[in-house]
Amino acid sequence: MNIILILLWSTVFCDANRLSLKGEEQFPIYLFWNSQNSVVENTLLPNEILDMSFQNISNLNSTYFAEMTDLKLINVSFNNIEELEDGLFKTTRKLKYLDLSHNELHNVSCEFLVCLPELEYLDISSNKFMALNLGSAFKSVVNLKFLRVSAEKLQRNYLKNIAGIRLNIFFIEIMKPWSYEKNSLDWINTNTVVIEFPNDNVNKVDAFLSDVLEISTNIEIIGSACCLDFSNASSNSVSFNLTNMYLTNFQISLVCFLKAVKMFSELKGQKLQVYNLTVHIMNDELIIPEVFLPFEALSVQVAKTDVLSFTASNLYNNIINMKIKNMKISETPLFYITCPRTDSIHEVLDFSDNFFSDEIFSSPGITACKTFPLLHTLILKGNKLMHLDTLSVRTQHMKALTELDASFNMLTSESRNCYWPLSLSKLNLSFNTLDSYVFHCIPIMVQILDLQYNQITSIPQDMVSLNALKEIILSSNRLFNIPDCKNFHFVELLFLSSNVIKTPSADFLDSCQILKHLDISRNPFICDCSLRHFLQNRDKSKLALLGWPNLYSCSEPEALNGTLLEDFHMFEISCNLALLLAAILIPLIVIVISIAVLCKHFDAPWYLRMMWQWTQTKQRAKTKQLLETRRDLAYNAFVSYSQDDSSWVKEYLLPNLEEMGTLKICYHERNFIAGKSIIENIITCIEKSYKSIFVLSTNFISSEWCHYELYFAQHQLLSENTENLILILLEPIPHYMIPSKYYKLKDLMSRKTYMEWPKDKNKHKLFWASLRSAIHINLSELAADELKTMQAPKVLNVMCANTSLKKKKQNKGQMK
Ligand SMILES: *[C@@H]1O[C@H](CO)[C@@H](O)[C@H](O)[C@H]1NC(C)=O
Ligand SMILES: *[C@@H]1O[C@H](CO)[C@@H](O)[C@H](O)[C@H]1NC(C)=O
Ligand SMILES: *[C@@H]1O[C@H](CO)[C@@H](O)[C@H](O)[C@H]1NC(C)=O
Ligand SMILES: *[C@@H]1O[C@H](CO)[C@@H](O)[C@H](O)[C@H]1NC(C)=O
Ligand SMILES: *[C@@H]1O[C@H](CO)[C@@H](O)[C@H](O)[C@H]1NC(C)=O
Ligand SMILES: *[C@@H]1O[C@H](CO)[C@@H](O)[C@H](O)[C@H]1NC(C)=O
Ligand SMILES: *[C@@H]1O[C@H](CO)[C@@H](O)[C@H](O)[C@H]1NC(C)=O
Ligand SMILES: *[C@@H]1O[C@H](CO)[C@@H](O)[C@H](O)[C@H]1NC(C)=O
Ligand SMILES: *[C@@H]1O[C@H](CO)[C@@H](O)[C@H](O)[C@H]1NC(C)=O
Repeated sequence: MNIILILLWSTVFCDANRLSLKGEEQFPIYLFWNSQNSVVENTLLPNEILDMSFQNISNLNSTYFAEMTDLKLINVSFNNIEELEDGLFKTTRKLKYLDLSHNELHNVSCEFLVCLPELEYLDISSNKFMALNLGSAFKSVVNLKFLRVSAEKLQRNYLKNIAGIRLNIFFIEIMKPWSYEKNSLDWINTNTVVIEFPNDNVNKVDAFLSDVLEISTNIEIIGSACCLDFSNASSNSVSFNLTNMYLTNFQISLVCFLKAVKMFSELKGQKLQVYNLTVHIMNDELIIPEVFLPFEALSVQVAKTDVLSFTASNLYNNIINMKIKNMKISETPLFYITCPRTDSIHEVLDFSDNFFSDEIFSSPGITACKTFPLLHTLILKGNKLMHLDTLSVRTQHMKALTELDASFNMLTSESRNCYWPLSLSKLNLSFNTLDSYVFHCIPIMVQILDLQYNQITSIPQDMVSLNALKEIILSSNRLFNIPDCKNFHFVELLFLSSNVIKTPSADFLDSCQILKHLDISRNPFICDCSLRHFLQNRDKSKLALLGWPNLYSCSEPEALNGTLLEDFHMFEISCNLALLLAAILIPLIVIVISIAVLCKHFDAPWYLRMMWQWTQTKQRAKTKQLLETRRDLAYNAFVSYSQDDSSWVKEYLLPNLEEMGTLKICYHERNFIAGKSIIENIITCIEKSYKSIFVLSTNFISSEWCHYELYFAQHQLLSENTENLILILLEPIPHYMIPSKYYKLKDLMSRKTYMEWPKDKNKHKLFWASLRSAIHINLSELAADELKTMQAPKVLNVMCANTSLKKKKQNKGQMK
């Protein structure tokens, strides 16, 4: 089958993962030279660096550095310096890095090196040396680790003065015209050689390359159009220990590239890494199958072609059939790959950042490859995969697959029909567009599941339990709630940062017994009681919160926005209902009880009643005053009492009512006019008084009340107004004590509230105040002395017989 590949050679590729190899510990450099700018440690202080590159300097002398004794790095590259005096660096003996490249130096004896015992890095490339005949001064830089030179010509003894130095990297730029005498590199003592070729092709590099292979195990070749020829070397491969080879910035034909790979395999190299490759493809080249010997690892990173489209089933057949354990082809325009024809030896396949679609590993009639018996890691990061269930079908026969990385694709999940291999234990589905349904398509034996940066809102309750799961990453999704561990009981690490969890439920921890680390940082927490509860439970469980405390802050309530959770405190009481109730109820009950006790002790109801009466009478007095003043009043009150109670009246009542002189009282011992009948006097007094006070006692009822019954009977109309009557009860009088003929009294007693004479001395003041206010009225306008006599019948005394009284007294005795 032929597939039209549209190779987007002009596609802007992502920047390669550039390793910045700075610092001494990174010697030797095992990666592409081009991908890093210098091997200089990045911890140098400003006063230790002197950068004089591109300054048009033609002359340097030692006075210039005299003061700068701390210098560790001097860069005078890209200047016009022709000569350096021998004692130039005599004051800068700490110098570690010296860059003299791109100058006009012509004497390579370099006597100035004698002063630099600490020197580790020396670049003398791109100067005007006639021949690279390193002087004897090189013997003194015993700590040198990095040496960069450029040469047109190398002869057998040129490099003998560095023979005693163990270099980490020997970097040589080949200049044109190139001439090389065999075995000139024998003096070099290093593991790593970096060779940079000029832009156009150089002849006679074969002998040189074979010598390089003899002295080092790691080779990086930076070349643009160089078609490598190891033919001399490969015929003699037994004596080489090639480990790593890096091919950087090559721009060659596909045939030439495949030849290089073939030769690498024949040299029994282990890792071949290709970076920034541009291949020219002629149509006929695509049908040439290359046969490689098995080798350890091939990495092709950033590759493109200048052909826009071609039919290339052979190409990807060749790629997938290479006998390479660990193969990486990334940042290339590949978007299709087939199954290996026979069982492959692939253990790791990394196809990140290509254009693979769901069709990967399939062809007509074949939905899944069965020829990956050893593959344990498959990386499909950054491709164009769309359906998770299809991916599971593609991988179902990869019996050894333990790790699958499908991050940065466009995966969605709508199906429950997934067929993952049982061996799969680490699945990376981060940076896709998966929603909650993904949980119905997870391999059941998975141990590490990465779902960060998706669109998951919840974890479905009806998913299959993942009992092998130890770590689940759900950061940067849209989870509203902290999920419980019902469906993954044995999870130890749970990552939930950057979701929308506002209120983590406190009892989720109960379902996550094994959980050790939890990351719920960067969530918009509502700082309230449930959060407090959660934090408390967390403290109890000794669960480690990752990112605590700096990445945990409140977002609500607004007043607490931005406050660290660490600094958020609430009192137990405001969160605990029982405690709150207790806190309110206990004082309440105490108050009620103490009020009750106080009432009982001080007779509060009595006071209340008294106050009420007082205010009532005041109220009434106000409304009635106008009306009342029209009557001719001479007294505030008429007091009627039994002779037996006269001592109380004189001792208490009169002094208390008249004490201020404002109130005038009418009572018979003083104001009754002799000669008039009692009833006449009574009537007169009542008429002239604002109120009538009756001091009630059993004596009063039996001896005096009969007059009033008559009076009330006579003056029906006048007596209707009972407002003017005040009854003072000197002692409790049971109803039965009141003779049945005293209708009025019975009526009054039942209807009208009376004032009880309190036994408690403390209450007397209030009693009198209340009474005074009840009878208070302004008498000033009234004529006090003018008493109008009223007509009254004189026959009434007959009624006041003592019979009824005696009977009542007997009754009372019986009751006691
Ligand atoms: C260096 O010299 C060249 C000409 O010789 C001049 O064009 C350039 O501006 C100079 N650069 C500096 C930094 O002085
Ligand atoms: C050093 O160079 C400066 C100019 O860069 C010059 O003025 C001075 O005379 C020179 N000193 C010696 C000792 O050559
Ligand atoms: C010296 O400066 C040049 C030009 O800026 C730079 O390319 C080079 O890496 C520098 N050398 C060192 C050792 O830093
Ligand atoms: C290089 O310098 C050394 C000593 O500084 C001297 O002996 C030698 O002749 C010089 N070589 C050339 C080619 O100038
Ligand atoms: C390399 O091989 C060629 C023939 O393939 C031969 O002519 C040449 O002499 C060999 N060079 C060395 C240095 O062995
Ligand atoms: C290759 O490695 C073996 C053992 O590691 C060693 O004995 C041999 O000398 C090495 N050969 C070369 C050319 O470095
Ligand atoms: C890739 O290699 C070409 C030469 O083949 C070179 O011009 C280009 O700058 C290199 N790109 C990178 C990113 O190194
Ligand atoms: C999953 O892939 C993403 C992006 O490639 C990476 O950042 C993350 O570390 C991976 N997760 C795991 C658990 O390796
Ligand atoms: C909280 O404060 C941040 C800035 O500190 C602001 O962007 C955000 O809108 C605030 N949130 C609320 C709920 O006020």
